[in-house]
Amino acid sequence: MALDPNSRRQFLAFLAGSPLLAAAGIDREWLTSLGATARPDALLQAADTVATAGHPVLQPPRITRAADALDVFDFEGVAQQNIPVAHWGYLMTGTDDDGTIAANRAGFDRWTLKPRRLVDVSRIDASMAIFGQRYPTPIIVNPLGSQKAFHKDGELATAKAARARDHLMVLSTVATTSIEDVIAARGGPVWFQLYHQTDWSITKQMVKRVERAGAPAIAFTVDLLGGSNRETMIREARRDTRDCTKCHLGGAPLPGVSGRVDDRDNRRKPNLVGYEKLPPQLEKGTPTWEFVDRLKQSTSMKVLLKGIVTGEDAALAVEHGVDGLFVSNHGGRAENSRRATIVSLPEVVQGTAGRIPVICDGGFRRGTDVFKAMALGATGVGIGRPYIWGLGAFGQEGVEAVLAILRKEFELTMKQSGTTTLSQISARHITAA
Ligand SMILES: Cc1cc2nc3c(=O)[nH]c(=O)nc-3n(C[C@H](O)[C@H](O)[C@H](O)COP(=O)(O)O)c2cc1C
Repeated sequence: MALDPNSRRQFLAFLAGSPLLAAAGIDREWLTSLGATARPDALLQAADTVATAGHPVLQPPRITRAADALDVFDFEGVAQQNIPVAHWGYLMTGTDDDGTIAANRAGFDRWTLKPRRLVDVSRIDASMAIFGQRYPTPIIVNPLGSQKAFHKDGELATAKAARARDHLMVLSTVATTSIEDVIAARGGPVWFQLYHQTDWSITKQMVKRVERAGAPAIAFTVDLLGGSNRETMIREARRDTRDCTKCHLGGAPLPGVSGRVDDRDNRRKPNLVGYEKLPPQLEKGTPTWEFVDRLKQSTSMKVLLKGIVTGEDAALAVEHGVDGLFVSNHGGRAENSRRATIVSLPEVVQGTAGRIPVICDGGFRRGTDVFKAMALGATGVGIGRPYIWGLGAFGQEGVEAVLAILRKEFELTMKQSGTTTLSQISARHITAA
């Protein structure tokens, strides 16, 4: 392993910033101090220790063109170099010790593939139909806030990539681009993810606005209603020497703030502004199933819940007329449950009794992950951080490349498993490890 001192330092900085260090049993400060001295022997030792943790995410960054990427991890290091450290912390954080991020990944290892042979797989159809719309792939571009924090083109680049590759895209309430502009860039409808506002009259106006803009579905996120403890985000922000108050009220993230630096700061959140000041209708407490009923009654759009992880809540959702679910723990950013979403998926599917579509997200990095979710009954899968690595590394081109890689890997897994359509992928194609 011949590294020049500069790339050694970059590699160490990269390692030091990774939330996976804890999983590998490596002390962050020790690594940072190595970066200052860059002693090759200690470096090699660090690299070996990390390599034995067996996670490809810890490879040194090296691609210079999106086209050179072999897998989605190839974008991560490049993105980290380009993205300011506080924003990187926002992207990569989980909660507490980030254990649920690791659990989401580890969950996929609970199942192995059982490929069938001698099926004609020269032609396959990986298309997903949902709410009367067909997409060539079940891989969904999940809602992820503040994308201009990762690349100047933000959600517009993501929407153009979703258009180029014809993926379903879901836009976040706290996006840095408006729903109207994103639908124009996507050249077709996108779904909207809803964070409710404490004033129902604003929530209602927001729902009407996205309906008018042409969104056919709204996904109400229910996994952050009690708040979340994001330590990595705060630690990384403390390493950022820029003046955060230029863009953020309050200046820096605070303990107990779930992602937005300051919830009152809407300067860069066009979906949160422009509403009439009507007499406030303040929520009493945090949302319950009553809120879901109200939401359903207030719109003709399909209403999904994002963040359901139990069969009980899945059954309740069906009872309340919900149109679809996202099995999600917010990419390990909600409670530190240490329960993978892929592990929650079967009971959620069972809870719905197949009556509504179920999308699963959290830790999807490989086509085989997508295949396992489809085998466990998912209608589609959502990806978050990987496409942002692509965005941060190479803008729209990077997002497109990430989507292309995941699709290629998934379609290869379909073929190798002897399945030519999504409906053929069944529990018989996997087995418990
Ligand atoms: C930086 C970041 C911002 C996110 N913003 C939102 C959001 O605004 N609304 C939402 O419902 N989910 C949000 N999510 C969760 C994602 O939609 C998705 O559930 C998660 O990223 C999937 O896990 P993955 O990143 O491991 O693929 C965010 C996730 C990240 C990492």
